[in-house]
Amino acid sequence: MSTDLTEFIERRKKELNAVILAHYYQRPEIQDAADFVGDSLQLAIQAARTEAEVIVFCGVTFMAESAKILNPDKIVILPELQAGCPMADMATGEALRAKKAEMPGVKVVCYVNSSAEVKAESDICCTSANAVQVVESLPPECPILFVPDQNLGHYIARQTGRDITLWEGYCPVHQVVSLEQLVEARRQHPEAVVMVHPECPPDVIEASDHALSTGGMLKLAKTDPAQEFIVGTEEGLLYQLRKQNPEKKFHLIKSEFICETMKLTTIDKLARSLETLEPRIEVPEDVRIRAQKALDRMIQIS
Ligand code: 13P
Ligand code: SF4
Repeated sequence: MSTDLTEFIERRKKELNAVILAHYYQRPEIQDAADFVGDSLQLAIQAARTEAEVIVFCGVTFMAESAKILNPDKIVILPELQAGCPMADMATGEALRAKKAEMPGVKVVCYVNSSAEVKAESDICCTSANAVQVVESLPPECPILFVPDQNLGHYIARQTGRDITLWEGYCPVHQVVSLEQLVEARRQHPEAVVMVHPECPPDVIEASDHALSTGGMLKLAKTDPAQEFIVGTEEGLLYQLRKQNPEKKFHLIKSEFICETMKLTTIDKLARSLETLEPRIEVPEDVRIRAQKALDRMIQIS
């Protein structure tokens, strides 16, 4: 990144009392420009705690929406409005209302990778870092509907032994990881520990050593004595893994592992958004109030 751009970003942040939050899948220069880099849970907690007046969210729409839901009086900016999450788009508020009508008494657990409207229809949110804990917090007898990620839902059902109805959504980026790719990666790096994201298909999770959120993978890489890891998630995480563990080796489970919408945010767009205070994220107040309850319940137990 040019010195001019770095200076501009630093100066505007101070003038605006702004904080830059970035997800681990963001481009390296964005991660370096951010005040805080984290997984979805860490970012939601950070957004709930911040005293900044402006939150610039380098991630995808649902993440910036969550920040706005938790901070209605603050300006929340997403530098690239097209940065959506295709999995979040696989569930709508209307479809979820129809499903709930078929399942009286159901508790809806909603992955944060979802729209504000879907959160508003849900009882509690979760991320991949706390999904098991969230499901275990619900009364053992109540039926559970998990929306929208069927792979994460399947993983939690196995971990908790709970009977969970799954929505048929998935992450197109993680869904295409195959068992053959994992086996081949193990063949090439027989000493490596395999860690995959729980958005991967069930057979891939089953054959891995650990299913973890992005933040969980970073923690394991630091604490595990292993010197080599096979990583089953978006390649942006490799930047942090290598930065924090320069002496260890990290191999992607397959050659290209990219979330295109996460990469839409560039340093130029970040600088422009700090200049113009646009594009802003807004959430209708009636939706926001109901969605906040589901997010607050999650944050309380995390
Ligand atoms: P994490 O919560 O693990 O950061 O994952 C977010 C995400 O979008 C995974 O695809
Ligand atoms: Fe959505 Fe998948 Fe991209 Fe995560 S990696 S933001 S779940 S499309």
